[in-house]
Amino acid sequence: MISLASGYGNFAVPTVAMKAAQAALATAQQQQAPLELSPAAGLPELREALVQRYRQRGATYLTADQVVVTAGAKTGLFALLSEMLQPGDDVLLPTPNWFGFYDLVRRAGGVLRTLPLAAADNYALQPETLRTALTPATRLLIISNPNNPTGRVYSRAEWAALLAVTADFPQLWVLSDEIYEGICFGPEPVPTLLALPDPHQQHVVVSGFSKSLALAGWGVGCVVAPPALAKAITARLFSTGVPVPIPAQAAALAATRAAEAIGAALCAQLRPTRQFLLDALANLPGAPTVIAPEGTYYVFADFTRFLGPALPAPEASAQLVQQLAAAGVAVVDGATCGAPGFVRLSYAVAEDDMRQALKRLIAVLSPSYVAEGRSTPMAHIS
Ligand SMILES: Cc1ncc(COP(=O)(O)O)c(C=O)c1O
Repeated sequence: MISLASGYGNFAVPTVAMKAAQAALATAQQQQAPLELSPAAGLPELREALVQRYRQRGATYLTADQVVVTAGAKTGLFALLSEMLQPGDDVLLPTPNWFGFYDLVRRAGGVLRTLPLAAADNYALQPETLRTALTPATRLLIISNPNNPTGRVYSRAEWAALLAVTADFPQLWVLSDEIYEGICFGPEPVPTLLALPDPHQQHVVVSGFSKSLALAGWGVGCVVAPPALAKAITARLFSTGVPVPIPAQAAALAATRAAEAIGAALCAQLRPTRQFLLDALANLPGAPTVIAPEGTYYVFADFTRFLGPALPAPEASAQLVQQLAAAGVAVVDGATCGAPGFVRLSYAVAEDDMRQALKRLIAVLSPSYVAEGRSTPMAHIS
């Protein structure tokens, strides 16, 4: 089985991060001492480095008391949702979106309401559409930018137009999950919500080190929130877990300081597999014009034309994913992200795996090419 389904890339641990973690461990060994314990909110140096990085990206007024280091983005999200939501609170999620939000919101007591966006419109979220979807009772709007699974990047201008709407809803929190921020192929860097005006002090950003900084498995993330909420999140984490181990935070600190270089190296590594995948999809029978996603290492491919007609869309979508799995390619069913008939394909895989996976995928989706020995949609890459 070749997996194009994983949410984590095939990236080597950045050398600076590995060395920093090794140095933290070596210190404990040399001193024959226990590992030091971090404060619950994270190492002050890491929180300060995150502030500096966000300031470089335009978050001029950010201070370290707004930053909490968490055991991965998921832990940060759950602590934040648990602090923010009361049972039954309305949470608006434009979809497609990361499947993880559904369970996180439910477990934190919220009730998730989706706002489906259209592929044909490149998943634009129009301000009027948002205004119509919000109610005075809506407690939280969640956006992932870049979006998992579509790869869509919402620009600063788009954010500004959306925030002109949310400003009219003072009870509303706005959460931007920016964990894929460093993986961007567009002309502009991904804007951070923290760089935009926050008139009601209701904006929150969650991020992590497992994607854009190649620290999958190290269990480090962060939440940036107004000081009172950051404090409440820290208190909750103190009561319910352990601080992120210092070697992992040392690695995260080194990676934060080298974030630009790490992001650039990951994008360079991803370019060939990204292109293979986009070309192969464009050459599939009946392929709609695919807008190359600007961010993440996913393509969210529209396979609705390959669905069996006899079944309802969610079942047909699951069936297609099973067929692909039976042919040896694992993909994420778009139904789990709110879009049955689409599949999320990761290109953060080795080139050989990508070639092989695409051959298997094409054999399922356009068997006539294979059976007739015609020039296949893979001809340009094999
Ligand atoms: C949008 C998004 N947020 C958060 C996470 C969780 O990240 P972490 O591994 O840091 O918990 C993921 C993981 O796939 C994700 O895609």
